[in-house]
Amino acid sequence: MTAICDIYDLQELARKRVPRMFYQYADSGSWTQSTYRANEEDFQKIKLRQRVAVDITDRSLDTEIIGQQAKMPIALAPVGLTGMQHPDGEIKAARAAEQAGVPYTLSTMSICSIEEVAKHTSKPFWFQLYVMRDRDFIRRLIDRAKDAGCSALMLTLDLQILGQRHNDVRNGLSAPPKFTINAMMQVLSKPRWCLSMLSTRNHTFGNIVGHAKGVGDLSSLSSWTAEQFDPRLDWKDIDWIREHWGGPLIIKGILDVEDAKMAAKVGADAIVVSNHGGRQLDGADSSINALPAIVDAVGKDIEIHFDGGIRSGQDVLKALCIGAKTAYLGRAYVYGLGAGGQAGVTKALDIIRSELDTTMALCGERLVGNLGRHNLLHPPA
Ligand SMILES: Cc1cc2nc3c(=O)[nH]c(=O)nc-3n(C[C@H](O)[C@H](O)[C@H](O)COP(=O)(O)O)c2cc1C
Repeated sequence: MTAICDIYDLQELARKRVPRMFYQYADSGSWTQSTYRANEEDFQKIKLRQRVAVDITDRSLDTEIIGQQAKMPIALAPVGLTGMQHPDGEIKAARAAEQAGVPYTLSTMSICSIEEVAKHTSKPFWFQLYVMRDRDFIRRLIDRAKDAGCSALMLTLDLQILGQRHNDVRNGLSAPPKFTINAMMQVLSKPRWCLSMLSTRNHTFGNIVGHAKGVGDLSSLSSWTAEQFDPRLDWKDIDWIREHWGGPLIIKGILDVEDAKMAAKVGADAIVVSNHGGRQLDGADSSINALPAIVDAVGKDIEIHFDGGIRSGQDVLKALCIGAKTAYLGRAYVYGLGAGGQAGVTKALDIIRSELDTTMALCGERLVGNLGRHNLLHPPA
């Protein structure tokens, strides 16, 4: 490939470089993938208002996210198994985010542990929490995030049970890959990936293996999830989690106005309007369709963040215009990581920054804080 122009170029490179089970782990939605597709497609239906003869010098993307300075209204979303896209993928992504001046969120289901990421970065990152049945483990996990200096806790509420992604079943997804013929064929067909993986000892779930009782080895994500993720989790649990954490709390996985109101009531600092990238409830609304009603209902009470289907700076701008304070990159940075490690994540962030800045200028705006529904051709009522 000669030039990398957009996120789809990075996706294509990642597809070539990363073993199928891990590439498709990212590039999949649940069941028919209708929500996964809608997340991207619904952005295309939103049209921008072009303005001319406006002074657009001295533009700035600087912003604050939950009171923390950021160089643009972007954050990296929590993504499990990032360290299987590229060796030490979580560390590489966190470093790229640090350089770009945006927050990085480490997943509970990461390959590199909280401590490993903290050791190799110099600015605080955010930690994403899944609630497991073993509450002692959860308390210890929160303590570990505190000890590592994490500056926000993101509690994900939309994965108490795992939505099935058919590709993961077909590919026999596991970390590290099992010694089956199918898995070995997938891995050996990417010799460059295999060799690079020899450079690290981080090959399985670093936050869990050796920390959760009775978990010395964790290979099957789906069976472990079925056993450990807590289906009893409800709004009452947020209280003790918030108290035990004691810092900024972001609630992720909100797609419904009533849930948004609950999240505002339990005292979260922000919510992420999200359907988990179309990986959970297939048939749910796209995130961008769900956003306007949530902004209208609770936008004055709580900071609203957004994810789902962001593949360009234009998508980011559209979410901001509707009322999100920041947008998270999920697959957009994961493809960068698979394509080129830390440099690939930096490339993804550069692409998004430049697309966002140019689009903002062509809409006649100089500051991200000034973007609003007036920049859309047919704004939601
Ligand atoms: C491969 C993959 C793994 C993910 N793992 C997690 C996770 O561990 N925790 C979490 O809260 N969300 C997880 N998500 C959801 C993302 O945080 C985010 O909501 C989603 O990727 C946004 O959609 P997008 O990828 O289309 O931008 C994952 C998403 C992907 C694609």
